[in-house]
Amino acid sequence: MTVPDPTLTDAWAALARHRNAMASVSLRTRFEQDATRFDRLSWSVAGLTVDLSKQHLDDDTLPLLLDLATAMDVEGRRAGLFAGDRVNVTEDRAALHVALRDSTDRSYVVEGEDVSVQLKYARGRMLAFAGHVIDGQRTGHTGQRFDRVVNIGIGGSDLGPRCAVAALTDHAVSELDVAFVATVDGIALQDALADVEPEKTLFIICSKSFSTRETMTNANEARCWLIDALGEAAVADHFVAVTAEPSKAVDYGLTDDAIFPMWDWVGGRYSLCSAIGLSLALACGPLVFQRVLAGANAMDRHFETAPLAENLPVMMALLSIWNQDFWNTTALAVLPYDHRLRLLPAHFQQLMMESNGKGVRIDGGDVSFRTAPIVFGGSGAESQHSFMQQIHQSPKVVPVEFIVALDGQGEEDRDILVANAFAQSEALMRGLAADEISQDSGKNLIPHKACPGNRQSTTILLESLTPETFGALIALYEHRTFVEGTLWGLNSFDQWGVEFGKALASRLLEDVAKGRAGDGHDSSTAGLLNAYLAHRSTIQS
Ligand code: F6P
Repeated sequence: MTVPDPTLTDAWAALARHRNAMASVSLRTRFEQDATRFDRLSWSVAGLTVDLSKQHLDDDTLPLLLDLATAMDVEGRRAGLFAGDRVNVTEDRAALHVALRDSTDRSYVVEGEDVSVQLKYARGRMLAFAGHVIDGQRTGHTGQRFDRVVNIGIGGSDLGPRCAVAALTDHAVSELDVAFVATVDGIALQDALADVEPEKTLFIICSKSFSTRETMTNANEARCWLIDALGEAAVADHFVAVTAEPSKAVDYGLTDDAIFPMWDWVGGRYSLCSAIGLSLALACGPLVFQRVLAGANAMDRHFETAPLAENLPVMMALLSIWNQDFWNTTALAVLPYDHRLRLLPAHFQQLMMESNGKGVRIDGGDVSFRTAPIVFGGSGAESQHSFMQQIHQSPKVVPVEFIVALDGQGEEDRDILVANAFAQSEALMRGLAADEISQDSGKNLIPHKACPGNRQSTTILLESLTPETFGALIALYEHRTFVEGTLWGLNSFDQWGVEFGKALASRLLEDVAKGRAGDGHDSSTAGLLNAYLAHRSTIQS
């Protein structure tokens, strides 16, 4: 498969000329000159309203960006995604996460086989299991109902479900308390198992590969904890697995009915709508899980069918390229103004940076651009008292994506959150000129108080944070990530860059086992390892 170098397309050159031609007009001026700007540049789909009017756009920008979408065959690649083509070229796989949330009788074909029936069967099994745990039909080894679920996973096997359980806490239906364990320093697992009863604890081993070192280490420690309390026979009653490697789960001691499949043509960071979302189904019930699927499916339908000029994932992706490659930004801040969505930035960080943080194009060609932005963020209100100073006044411009749910707890709280979210985007856009600053505080402070403004942002409004709008939001970012990768000519579905570090870690673990740094390490790595080994020997003696 060959893809054009986007920077060599006529569309890219036209965008570069256009950027030079339009940059002299500030966003503030554009709003002063056009009272309809918000109405013209905001779109509502699947319960989300996306306001793009504070982006650097004039009447010619979107058509020129759409020319780039045409040059990079966004429509063709989109069709291939839904058709189950092997869009993940380096792993020779499809990327059919859209099939996970389609409840119609549409067929989805992977390598010549219609997988839609097996998907629905697997979904039904997972949801039935969740329902049985919630209603007490499925109990632990001693017949007691579960009251604690521990999801053991990392990356896409943790961030998505963790974020979903937090986001939909208002919809929790079960007495089950769901904890997540990802890192491998023992403290996380220790915290998750503090004050819980083994008889009432259910472990989910979430691992597509069923071999991720951190996850299997935690799973083994949890297994020992359970066996110490209830004996080896209890493992089959207190552990379930979500994996694309069921035989490994059987070897681990799990029975078939405790293994929920996922597939190699669903990427980890795109897998929330698979059984990787089991913890959500346990926390909020099967119906809420299905409502998340329905919301994601609504956004899938929009992405698949809407003309590119009205297609939200496409437009957000085009603006990423516009900001990154023509307005020279290098980062993206995602700021949800809602405590329930506080974990969303971490999920989107993996989704966008692991998908498009690449150094070669899908056909192995070089990239002459910076690819994925550095995605970061956090709860918006707290970020205002943390890093927003830099985003207002640093020479480095960072586009911001504000996410605001219009419903939520407490009217006054919501008023404050919403006012602050909108004020931040207004301040970034209009800035504060020296002549607008009162002289009362002294002339010497004026340059310190001035804000450059003309800083672009997008605001995404959720009419209400429901399972449906949450699912639509997840799908919106999944598809904008895919389109960004397509525009850059990247493979958004592999992650070869993480393998090298894992291999080196294995070598260092062998050195730790031997008690000395092996040959071939640089003096820093050897020195650091020896320092650790010296410390380790003191605590072991
Ligand atoms: O970081 C690499 C990675 O493979 C991610 O893509 C994935 O989400 C995570 O590790 C966990 O992988 P698994 O689900 O196979 O344990």
